[in-house]
Amino acid sequence: MFKYKVTRNKLMKNILSDFDLSGQEIEDLLGLATKIKAAPASFKDSLKNKILGMVFQKPSTRTKASFEAAIYQLGGHAIFLDSTNSQISRGESLAETAKILSGYTNGIAARVYYQADLEDMAMASKVPIINALTDKYHTCQILSDLLTIKEKKGKLAELKLVYFGDAGNNVAHSLIISCSKVGIDVTIACPQNEKYQPSKDILVKAKRDVLGKIEITENWNAAAKDADILYTDTWVSMGMEKEKNERINDLMDYQINSKTLEKAKADCIVMHCLPAYTGYEISETVLKGPKSVVYEQAENKMHMQKAVLYQLMKD
Ligand code: CP
Ligand code: NVA
Repeated sequence: MFKYKVTRNKLMKNILSDFDLSGQEIEDLLGLATKIKAAPASFKDSLKNKILGMVFQKPSTRTKASFEAAIYQLGGHAIFLDSTNSQISRGESLAETAKILSGYTNGIAARVYYQADLEDMAMASKVPIINALTDKYHTCQILSDLLTIKEKKGKLAELKLVYFGDAGNNVAHSLIISCSKVGIDVTIACPQNEKYQPSKDILVKAKRDVLGKIEITENWNAAAKDADILYTDTWVSMGMEKEKNERINDLMDYQINSKTLEKAKADCIVMHCLPAYTGYEISETVLKGPKSVVYEQAENKMHMQKAVLYQLMKD
């Protein structure tokens, strides 16, 4: 099912970014997650005694809890290390940490600052490495978001998703790559300033393997026209706190609020990976309103993490 990657003379399956999955592999994961969600008891012992290592350099509520719930419900266990409770706090490298942890575990989910560190971890590890968020990608987030979109819309192909705000961040990059692979047309509404634009390298690579269209516009007013899905994320990603005031100032026009909803399709849904900062990237009325599916998104993280762990860790 998954493509095998050759890492240091051994066969290895990793999900380091959205580029590691084909459109078909994403569809397969969606099918599996749907099956697991509908009949969790049938998968109760499918990863019995398997151990998931977790290495988190940054805070997390949803991703940490959903991976832990997922592995426990499949019959396995989790070992969680963060930057304060492990030797990472004293300078032991992430690659060394992965090498050691891979001797005790069957897979490692990692949330780290830099994508390059995740790639080093994959080189050092004997077990699959899973991206649980880096500066560049939030791959598992978008996999579970696709499950929510499929449940709400009954399909993926030919939908129009419009992402508003900071398009240089991990969530925007993963949306661009994974949504377009399964045929969703993606419009990105963000300022022309390079730091809010998707990375050029990622865009070029994403455009090589797409079914859906990818468009970038600074026209926040027109972008939402006929949208099926409106998506936004914080303007101040973890690690960017020093830029908070500047970012709020630059991105205020790109807020999703009731005026944005008026331009989208009447049955559009509103998505946010959470945590949300209401009054900035999204208004409270819209976040808490009838079109918002943010709590379904949060729950679906667990169902999709189960599918990912099953695929990578099952014998
Ligand atoms: N959406 C998401 O990844 O949330 P956490 O940072 O709480 O894991
Ligand atoms: N872009 C956000 C996502 C948080 C889940 C961040 O990196 O902080």
